Amino acid sequence: MTDNPAVRRLADWRAETLRDLADEFGTPLYVTDLERVRENAARLRGAFPDADVAYAVKANTTRAVLETLESTGVDAECAAAGEVKRALDAGFPASRIRYTAVNPPARDLDYVCSLEHANEMTVTVGAEDTLDRVAARGFDGPLCVRVNPGVGAGHHEKVSTGAEPKFGVPYDRAERVARDAADRGFDPVGIHAHAGSGISGEGLSAHRELVRRMGDLARELADLDLEFVAVGGGFGVPYRETEPPLDLDAVATATRDALGDLGARLAIEPGRYFVADAGVLLTTVNTVKETPGTTVVGIDAGMTTLLRPAMYDAYHAVRSLEPDQPPRDAVSCEISGPVCETADVLGRGRTLPDPTRGDLLAVGNAGAYGYEMSSQYNSRPRPAVVALDGGEARLAVGRETLADLTRLETGDRDADGSDGTGRGDSDRGCQVGEAAGTDMTDDTGSADGREEPW
Ligand code: LLP
Repeated sequence: MTDNPAVRRLADWRAETLRDLADEFGTPLYVTDLERVRENAARLRGAFPDADVAYAVKANTTRAVLETLESTGVDAECAAAGEVKRALDAGFPASRIRYTAVNPPARDLDYVCSLEHANEMTVTVGAEDTLDRVAARGFDGPLCVRVNPGVGAGHHEKVSTGAEPKFGVPYDRAERVARDAADRGFDPVGIHAHAGSGISGEGLSAHRELVRRMGDLARELADLDLEFVAVGGGFGVPYRETEPPLDLDAVATATRDALGDLGARLAIEPGRYFVADAGVLLTTVNTVKETPGTTVVGIDAGMTTLLRPAMYDAYHAVRSLEPDQPPRDAVSCEISGPVCETADVLGRGRTLPDPTRGDLLAVGNAGAYGYEMSSQYNSRPRPAVVALDGGEARLAVGRETLADLTRLETGDRDADGSDGTGRGDSDRGCQVGEAAGTDMTDDTGSADGREEPW
C-alpha cells in the first residue's frame, strides 16, 4: 500500500465533506471511513506478516465495519453471543471466529454452542468451570485457555486487564488447566492473554513482559502442539494531536523477540487500532454561555453519544468545521453535552474559533468504542452512523427516534401485537437445549428458568 500513513489526524478530514454529511444526515452523527479501516488492517498485517490477526469486534460492531474487515481476511474476536451473531451475519465463517468467554452468561453459551458450525469456532475459556459448561452443551471444537498473566497495561486503570483476577486462569494454574482440558478430550489449540487497552509509552514494556510469560508457558506446553499463542490487543492510538503514533514495526519486532522460539504462531487481536482514526463524530453547538471561569459550549452530543471522556477522562480532539473566513478569535472553552450529569463534559480548556450557535464541530478518533458504548441514558435516542467508501456515503445505522426509547417496554404494544419482551421471537438463531444434549444441569437458560433464551 503506498499512501497509508501511520495515523489519520482530525485535521486530515475534509471539512467540506463532513459539512455535507451533517447537512444531509443531521447531528450528532458518527462518520466511519471504510477505506481507512482497510488501511489500518493492511498496516497491521504488514507489520505482523506471520501472525494470526483478529479484529476485537467490541471496538465497533457496525455491520459495515465488520463486512469491511471480513473482506480483508482478518479473523473476528468476540466477547459475547451478540458479537458472535454480528460477526456471522457480516460473513465471518465460524472457523474465523474466536469467542472469548468472560464469565459467560448461560444464554451466551446456549447460543454459541448450538450454532450450526459451533465446533469450528475457537472458544476461549477463562475459568475452569467454563470447561464444564461448554462440555455440558456438547462443544468439542478448538479450545483456548485464557491466562491471567499477572501484568497489565492500558490508557486508564479501568481498562488495564492483565492483572485483574476477573480475567483468565491464574498464570500458575494455566498449565494444569490446559493439560486437564486435553485429558478430558478437548482440543486445546492455543493460550491467550490480554494486557489491557490503549497501550503506548511505558505500557509497552509491560506488554512485552506479558508476551515473554506467554512464550514461557507455551514452551512448557510444547507437547500439546498448540497452534497459536494469542497476546491480546491493546495497541494504542494517538488521541492528542501532537502525540506520535506507535511504531508498529518496532512493536512487532519486540513482540516476536519477547515470545521467543515457538512452534505455535503468534496471534494478535487489536480492536481500537483498526477503527479509531477511521471515525469522527459530528456535533452541533446548541448553546454558548459566558461564565466567570470559561465559555461553555453546549453541543448536541453527550456522554450518551461518546462515553469515553466521562468514563475514562479520555481526551478527544475537537475541531471547528466552520469556514475559516472571516477569521474568528480563539476562545478557551468547556465543551459540554446535553445530559444532566456533571461528568457530561467532552473537554475543558479547549480552544475553538469564537463559538457560535449552529457551528459544526468534529470530534476525532471516534471510530473505536464510540457508537459502540453509546446509550439511551436521559432518554436520548442514539445517533446515526454514516459509512464513507470511495467517495460514496451511505447510512449505516439509522438515527433512533423517541419511539425507540419505549419500544421494548411491556404494556406498550407494537402494531404487530408483540409485547416487546422478545418472548415470541422466532428468529433467535438457535434452539436452547438442542446442542446441550441431555446434560444441562448447571445453568442453562431452560434449566433454571431465570433467563429466557436469546
Ligand atoms: N482482546 C480482548 C480480550 C479484550 O478484552 C480487548 C478489549 C481487546 C482484545 C481489544 O483491545 P483494543 O485493541 O481495542 O485496545 N472501552 C475502552 C476499551 C475497553 C477494551 C476492552 N477490551 C475504551 O474506550 O478505551
